Amino acid sequence: KRDIAIAIDGPAAAGKSTVAKIVAKHLSYVYIDTGAMYRALTLKAIQHQLNVDNETEIVELLNHTSIQFKQNGEQQLVYLDDADVTHEIRSQEVTHHVSDVSKHKEVREEMVQRQQQLARSRGVVMDGRDIGTHVIPDAEVKVFLIASVDERAKRRHKENVEKGYPSNLEELKKEIQRRDQIDSQREVSPLIKAEDAIEIDTTSYTINEVAERILEIVSSKI
Ligand code: C5P
Repeated sequence: KRDIAIAIDGPAAAGKSTVAKIVAKHLSYVYIDTGAMYRALTLKAIQHQLNVDNETEIVELLNHTSIQFKQNGEQQLVYLDDADVTHEIRSQEVTHHVSDVSKHKEVREEMVQRQQQLARSRGVVMDGRDIGTHVIPDAEVKVFLIASVDERAKRRHKENVEKGYPSNLEELKKEIQRRDQIDSQREVSPLIKAEDAIEIDTTSYTINEVAERILEIVSSKI
């Protein structure tokens, strides 16, 4: 069996990371969460009180920023410079600003370069918005996960409640729609299904069923 690259893209809260982690674990592949990289940069921009619309300042900041993944048993930790920011990058404030930080051309160019470096050895599952279209256009398996906004908001709400985070279903729905709109309408590498990606509507499937479907697609390729 050969090692391949699996690209998983789709709108916010479609279950990408949960599915990607299951698939990676099953294949003993490395999982790379590209959204966490944009979130870490957003956190630092907030800490430095930068205006998220100021591309020059944000790129300058990124050029002096290290973002790393570290494995701690089952858990993957995200490090911003020398600090563990795994939990902080999921805050409502970061979530609210991340799409504006991510829309800048030079920010994306640098991030894509770092992500390509991380994916250069195969045996990776990478999730995001532009993995199949820009980061790993030659990925052997490309999946585009979708689900209705209602379903995605409900799932995220349930997850928040279970984790003990404050959560409001209506606000979640609005935030998801807002993020999808900015991500889909930006000029540089917008959220879009790659021509050769397989679309899976996860609305009426469980996470495990979706992971199994992807593993079937993978087995037909290796
Ligand atoms: O995947 P997650 O929801 O954590 O991503 C957060 C945000 O990061 C997205 O809404 C999007 O603005 C940005 N992003 C991106 N390209 C990626 C991954 C994430 O623009 N490959």
